[in-house]
Amino acid sequence: MVRDGAGHSPLEEKMLDFVIDETRCIQCGECAADCPVNVIDASGGIPRIPESRQSYCIRCQHCLAVCPTAALSILGKNPDQSAAISPLPAEGIENLIKSRRSVRRYLPDAVDQAVLNRLMDVVAHAPTGKNQRQVRFTLVDDPRVMEAIRVQTMDGIRKAAVEDSLPDGLEYFAKFNAPFDQGRDIIFRHAPHMIIASSPRDAVTPEADPFIALSYFEFMAQSLGIGTVWCGYARWALQSVVPEIGRKLGIPADHRSMYVMMFGYPAVRYARTVQRDVQDVHLVSLADLEAGQ
Ligand SMILES: Cc1cc2nc3c(=O)[nH]c(=O)nc-3n(C[C@H](O)[C@H](O)[C@H](O)COP(=O)(O)O)c2cc1C
Repeated sequence: MVRDGAGHSPLEEKMLDFVIDETRCIQCGECAADCPVNVIDASGGIPRIPESRQSYCIRCQHCLAVCPTAALSILGKNPDQSAAISPLPAEGIENLIKSRRSVRRYLPDAVDQAVLNRLMDVVAHAPTGKNQRQVRFTLVDDPRVMEAIRVQTMDGIRKAAVEDSLPDGLEYFAKFNAPFDQGRDIIFRHAPHMIIASSPRDAVTPEADPFIALSYFEFMAQSLGIGTVWCGYARWALQSVVPEIGRKLGIPADHRSMYVMMFGYPAVRYARTVQRDVQDVHLVSLADLEAGQ
């Protein structure tokens, strides 16, 4: 199927399903004013999307979200079913951000399926470049599967170490075997779950999208009492050291940008936040812009 730059097929574009409830529409023009790609024409009163502009729609649903009277439906979404917006106190968000820790000690128990579903529902709200939403989530929801991945990965690393075939720069993976034999899983941290976010090479923002998605996942998970840790070791292992296992997980071959996060119920409780110094901030001045002119 031919896809346009926004990742939608021409057939799908015919299905924007842009419907205005004229009994509710107050013709304020907000939907047109907020549309990032300017496809809505409200000049005649009741807004519409001319057929010639439909293919430019990026399906962000800003029009549905901004409509003050819930008069606008797009993509078959009923505006009355959207969540109401209830602003959170900034202190709560600030505390969540500051108290988030990388959890490296986990209980073996599986996270409830309903909680996993809720997490995946929330992560679908993470922004993606041009709203392409092409991030794929490879989710290990069964701790037995995680255990098999752990064992196969360690076996693969052991074999590569013996054969002296560990990739350049990743020779240190050989050092993870002895602790593993003593019950210390330095790569996956004994987590019962893993989520991998990846995106296709040809996405508009393939590097950023998976990272943003996992950041949203992490905050939502931690707000629900679930521990998380970003896992570079697992990423390198699955992408470079034992890529055959990465392939078994079903990550599409054209997905180059990916990151891995371990998660599960924590076996550690932090009593307070850490204290960080403000990082390097460079304030851009007019003098910066005038330099060299
Ligand atoms: C991209 C990325 C990769 C990471 N990879 C690992 C990893 O492989 N193993 C690990 O134990 N921690 C990993 N971490 C966690 C960092 O070590 C951790 O964020 C940092 O020490 C600060 O601790 P905090 O997250 O508790 O604030 C990673 C973090 C990031 C952002």
